[in-house]
Amino acid sequence: MTIAPIEALPDTPAGTTSRVRLNYTDTTREIDVPAGTTVLEAAEAAGARLVSQCRIGTCGTCVGRVSTGALAMPEGRVYPLRAEELSEGMRLLCQAHALGETEVDLDYPAAMLDEHPVVTTTVKVTGLTWLAETVVELAVRLPKSIPFSFRSGQYVRFRIPGTDEWRSYSMASGERHKRRLAFTIRVLPTGAMSDYLRTAAAVGDELDLEGPMGSFGLEEQPGPVLMIAGGTGLAPMLSMLESLQTARTRNSVRLVFGCARQGDLFHLDELDARRSFMPNLDVRVVLDEQTDRPGVLVGNPVSVLTAEDVADPDTSAYLCGPPAMLDAARERLQQLGLPRERIHAEHFLPS
Ligand SMILES: Cc1cc2nc3c(=O)[nH]c(=O)nc-3n(C[C@H](O)[C@H](O)[C@H](O)COP(=O)(O)OP(=O)(O)OC[C@H]3O[C@@H](n4cnc5c(N)ncnc54)[C@H](O)[C@@H]3O)c2cc1C
Ligand code: FES
Repeated sequence: MTIAPIEALPDTPAGTTSRVRLNYTDTTREIDVPAGTTVLEAAEAAGARLVSQCRIGTCGTCVGRVSTGALAMPEGRVYPLRAEELSEGMRLLCQAHALGETEVDLDYPAAMLDEHPVVTTTVKVTGLTWLAETVVELAVRLPKSIPFSFRSGQYVRFRIPGTDEWRSYSMASGERHKRRLAFTIRVLPTGAMSDYLRTAAAVGDELDLEGPMGSFGLEEQPGPVLMIAGGTGLAPMLSMLESLQTARTRNSVRLVFGCARQGDLFHLDELDARRSFMPNLDVRVVLDEQTDRPGVLVGNPVSVLTAEDVADPDTSAYLCGPPAMLDAARERLQQLGLPRERIHAEHFLPS
C-alpha cells in the first residue's frame, strides 16, 4: 500500500480521471474522480453519498481511510486529523484528490444516508433541566410534518438564536424517539451556545436544527462493547445503550464514564437505572479528584482500562469526548491489543 504524503497537489493534466472505489460497510461504489475535483464532489456528482458537514476541511466528519492507492490533500493547512491518523491513511474526502486508482474504506453503511436524510427545520424547546453545575439537558420537539430519523450515535447542529453560529450536539435520546430529542450539554464559563443556555434559553424557544449528521454508531453486528465517555461524551453512549437494550444484546457492554470534578458528574441515577434494565451492562464511573461519592473511582477513563476490558477479540470500542482524552484512550486500547479498526470515535471538536 502506498499512502501519498499530504503534499502540494501535483499538476495533473486536465481531462485525467482516477477510478476510486468507496468501500462502505454494506456495499461498494466505484466513481471517477476528475483532476481538480475532490472525492466528495465526484462522489456526489455520481450519486454516491458520503458523510460530510463543513466541506472546507475543518470538522473532520468526511474521513475515509485509503487502503490502496493514494489521495493527496493540499499542503500548508491544519487539518483535524492527527499525524498518526494521516500516516494510517486517513484523509478528509472533502479535501482529497485522487492520484490514480485508489480504494477508500468508510466505517458506515451507505444505507444509513438513505435511511436518515439530513433535514433543516425549526424545533421547540420543551425542557431545560440542570443535571449538574455545568451540565444541562435540552429537550426539543420536532414538527410533525418533518420526517426525521437518526441512527444512535449521530448528532445535529443548532443555530444559536440571534446569530449565524451553529453548534453540534449528539442525541442522548434513543433512535426510536423521532420527534422528541434530548441532548446533554456542558455549559462552559464562556461560549456562544453556553451563554445562551445559561442566560437566555427558555422553554418555548424556537431553535433552527440541521441533521442528522455523522457516522459514529454501533457496528452492524456488535460483539462485546466497550464505551469510553468523557463528560458530555456520555450523550451518544446513552442513545447507543438504548439501541443495544432494544436489540436485547447478550454480549457484554462496559461503559467507562469520567468527569473532571464532582460538580461535572451527572446521570449517576440514570446509569443505575440502565444497569437494572440491562444485566449485561457494567458501568465504571471515574473522577479526576478525590470523592466520597459511593462507587465512584478516582482516576480518568483511560487510567482505569485493563487488558480484561478488551480480552475478547471481537470487542469494539466506542470513544466520545474531548480530543485529548480520545487520543489517550485510543493509544491505550491499541497498547492493550485492540486493533485500530475496532476503535470508533466521536471527537467533540471545539467550534
Ligand atoms: C460532532 C460533535 C458533537 C458534539 N456533541 C456535544 C454534546 O453532545 N454535548 C456537548 O456538551 N458538546 C458537544 N459538542 C461540542 C459543542 O459543539 C460545542 O463546541 C460546545 O458546546 C461549546 O460551544 P459554545 O458555543 O458554548 O462555545 P464556543 O463559543 O464554541 O467557545 C468554546 C470555547 O472557546 C473559547 N472561545 C470562544 N471564542 C474564542 C476566541 N475568539 N478566542 C479564544 N477563545 C475563544 C470559549 O471561552 C470557550 O471556552 C459536540 C461537538 C461536535 C463536533
Ligand atoms: S466535511 Fe468537514 S472536514 Fe470534510
